[in-house]
Amino acid sequence: MRAYRTTPAVVYNADSRRIGELLGPKSVHAVVTDPPYELGFGGRAWDRQGVAFDPAFWAGLLEVTRPGGMLMAFGARRLWHRMACAVEDAGWELVDQIVWMFDDGMDTSETAPHALDREAGVDVKEGRVRLADGPAGTYARRVRYRDRYQAKTDGARAWEGFSSGLRPCWEPVLVARAPRDGSFGHTLAVWGTGAFPAATDGAADMPLPARSWWYGGHAHGADRPVVDCALVRPADPGSPAWFQACDRLGLVADADTYPADVLDAAALALTRPAGRRRLAHPTVKPLALMRHLVALACPAGGLVLDPFAGSGTTLQAALDEGRRAVGVEADPLFLPLIDRRLDTPVQTLLA
Ligand SMILES: C[S@@+](CC[C@H](N)C(=O)[O-])C[C@H]1O[C@@H](n2cnc3c(N)ncnc32)[C@H](O)[C@@H]1O
Repeated sequence: MRAYRTTPAVVYNADSRRIGELLGPKSVHAVVTDPPYELGFGGRAWDRQGVAFDPAFWAGLLEVTRPGGMLMAFGARRLWHRMACAVEDAGWELVDQIVWMFDDGMDTSETAPHALDREAGVDVKEGRVRLADGPAGTYARRVRYRDRYQAKTDGARAWEGFSSGLRPCWEPVLVARAPRDGSFGHTLAVWGTGAFPAATDGAADMPLPARSWWYGGHAHGADRPVVDCALVRPADPGSPAWFQACDRLGLVADADTYPADVLDAAALALTRPAGRRRLAHPTVKPLALMRHLVALACPAGGLVLDPFAGSGTTLQAALDEGRRAVGVEADPLFLPLIDRRLDTPVQTLLA
């Protein structure tokens, strides 16, 4: 199988279940990845194929990882245990968990008044102003209304303020290790793997929730830090809608490109170039977070594998941290995003 690109990172447009055909045995120092959460996110087929829960898949990754090499894998709060079991069944040793905390999670659960009115046979759509649908394949495709649902019956009003879910504020990162070659010391001496760097091992340099606003999409004001690599371009940079979206989000409208995770649904929809299904990736992880994980998992100069490369955040993080990187991404639509990341230095447009 030929690599899609080989510099500055090697990228394969392939199914990572065939990793053994792409990489040699014991060739990578660490696997750092954001696998499908298997939730069927946004109706996407790649997020419900079961690969993250398949021990055979994780066994394939183990084959290409050095003894003592680390695995760091994100998971969904309610399903990560299935991934952890699959990773363990494949022969990896579970080491720890890392918690990624954020304070801008969106609660998408149904409110109690909405459910109770529906139960009572009330037309819950009546009188509500629906926002325009975005294009297929974007967040904006979801049915959205301008205002919060207002209870219409007494029974529903009694449950105002309740809903079926919790507002998300964290995600787990599984930390596992390929079995050592003998002792910790022997593995370290022979393979250079299995040790966490003291300088980055604590919570000290991870933002606390109160400071983690930069992970999400709606920070405003002069404090807005540089969040991620440039990923998206407006389809029509001159359109009034683009200027309005930038105004709302506090972005500089005439900058060349924007980080995907500071764009909201409406703004993302405006970034579709004509003729393409989508450009921005729907599940981009913050670059700073991935840099932190890469620095923890992989020794300097080592090779980091991301078998679910997406827009290439892990690959860029690895290069930024002085590691080498190899990525696998099955969907060719995301390859231009990886290209843009690896061809473009980290943007400072929003500094
Ligand atoms: C959760 S996303 C990763 C996003 C990434 N963290 C980023 O910041 O851009 C998972 C990616 O894995 C890809 N994928 C899913 N199944 C795959 C497979 N079997 N082989 C290779 N890539 C796959 C999907 O197309 C998707 O882009």
